[in-house]
Amino acid sequence: MAPQHSNRNPKPVKIDVALNPAEIALLPERDLDRTTCVAFDILRATSSMITALANGTRAIHPVPTIGDALSLKDKFPDAVLGGERHGERIEGFQLGNSPLEYRDNPPARIVTTTTNGTVALRACDHARETLVGALLNLDAIRRRITDRPSVLLVCAGTFETLAAEDVLAAGMLCAEFPDATLTDSADVALRYSTLCRGDLGGALRRTRNGAALLEKCRGAEIDWCAQRSLYDTVGVLRNGVVAA
Ligand code: MLT
Repeated sequence: MAPQHSNRNPKPVKIDVALNPAEIALLPERDLDRTTCVAFDILRATSSMITALANGTRAIHPVPTIGDALSLKDKFPDAVLGGERHGERIEGFQLGNSPLEYRDNPPARIVTTTTNGTVALRACDHARETLVGALLNLDAIRRRITDRPSVLLVCAGTFETLAAEDVLAAGMLCAEFPDATLTDSADVALRYSTLCRGDLGGALRRTRNGAALLEKCRGAEIDWCAQRSLYDTVGVLRNGVVAA
């Protein structure tokens, strides 16, 4: 009798992609009970979170607003406030949102708010599982979601628009599942990623967020975020807190 491949997924994973903030705004109304969400904000929120977790941070509280962050700081006085508005450190916060700020001995506990990345993460609060995705941990994410029946890749975007770097990361993850059932959005992301995968740094530099960082002479941050699978760390959001 042929060996039974009990661990073989009975049917291919279904992968969908939320391409932009308008779709993300609808997620709270969507049934995600059986869905694993992966949030991507490559420049720079999820890249910074993975960098922090990989280098010692134990807990990250992503919140949508500055008011939420200040309230959590009252609850966790040991927490360090981090994040950005318009790419800059928020007045009164100790850290901004550059991944390079979170590489060397980062705080044990961080409360962070960013323009899109923290909003995207929290929109997935009710999902079966919500993961923090980046190019920095792409293969660790691939391993984590293998055998999940339903996956939604959430591209945080920038302000109200699509962010190409997030779609690129989502497409690269789709490429790791050749047997997956892809929605049209996932297929678009996959096809876009095939145009960029050979030069991730160059692709990130051509994006709106990349150009904004280059104008501020922050190319080193782009290059950091463009490193594929530098880390094996997967951030998992549970009850409003991200931990490895
Ligand atoms: C975001 O969350 O919109 C981005 O991470 C913003 C940034 O880091 O500049």
